[in-house]
Order: sequence, then C-alpha cells, then structure tokens
Amino acid sequence: MKTTISLTINGKPRTVAVEPRLSLADLLREELRLTATHLGCEQGVCGACTVLIDGEPARACIALAITLDGAEVRTLEGLADDPLMSTIKAAFQEKHGLQCGFCTPGMLISSWDLLKRKGALSEAEIRVAMSGNLCRCTGYQGIVRSIKAAADQRPAAAPEAAR
Ligand code: FES
Ligand code: FES
Repeated sequence: MKTTISLTINGKPRTVAVEPRLSLADLLREELRLTATHLGCEQGVCGACTVLIDGEPARACIALAITLDGAEVRTLEGLADDPLMSTIKAAFQEKHGLQCGFCTPGMLISSWDLLKRKGALSEAEIRVAMSGNLCRCTGYQGIVRSIKAAADQRPAAAPEAAR
C-alpha cells in the first residue's frame, strides 16, 4: 500500500505516493528522473548515492522515502548553480578527479559538504574526510588533488561554521 509524503527536492515542493520499501535513490532516479544520484553497492557502503538530507550528507540507497515526509533533499542537480560546486567540478576536470565517473556525484556532494565546513585542509585530512566514498577505478590520487585544488580556489563565502 502506498503512503503519500510531501518533501522538498532541490527547492521544489513534491508530493509523492511511495511504497514502504522504496529508497530515496529509487524515488529520485526512477520516479523523478533525477539521475545524477548514482547507485553502486545499494547497501550504504560506497557513497555513490550521497545526497543532502536536511543539509547533511546521507546515503540515498538506504534512506527509505517513506521516512522523509517534511524533509529537504538536495541532489547534485540542485547544486548546478552553486559557486562552490562549480569550483569543485572545474577542479575535478582540471586535476583528473574522475575516470568512469560512476563515483563522481557522491564525491562531488561529499567534497562540497567538506569544503563548506572546513577551512584549510591537508591531503591527509581530505583522505580521512572522504573515506566514506569509494572509487572502483581507484582514482584516489586525482580525486584528492582535485579537492585540494578546489579548497585552495574556493569562493570567499565558504566555509561555513563547522559541524
Ligand atoms: S549505492 Fe548507496 S552507498 Fe553505495
Ligand atoms: S571514477 Fe570510476 S568509480 Fe570512481
């Protein structure tokens, strides 16, 4: 039996009827056609499906949509015009932060959250902070270089207060 929930996705109010076991990732990808959120392991391990739920990074594959009544969800599509995200994307392009690109949406969201929260970052701090995002191409050198470059070039407004 479906339950109707109302939530905000990328700033737009949405009302949807969901089955009890529908994941947020499947709601985004299959029903709302927001396919920037990738699915890898589908068990909360790889981070490919990372989105922001009420401003915090979360695994969309293990978040049940039915629990998100009233929540605010932001996906990579919802950060398309964000200056910090633009800086991060450019750095990933310039520093070879992606190979197949499968892990990239999760990497971008997690690094955006990291750069929002933290000031100067060493390579070691980036590695620790990003350890919840796996790259099956093992392109970690380029990913860390990209995030470091973005951290060094980020817009003046970031970072925000640390959580
Ligand atoms: S697909 Fe969600 S953590 Fe891997
Ligand atoms: S670039 Fe292929 S999984 Fe990371």
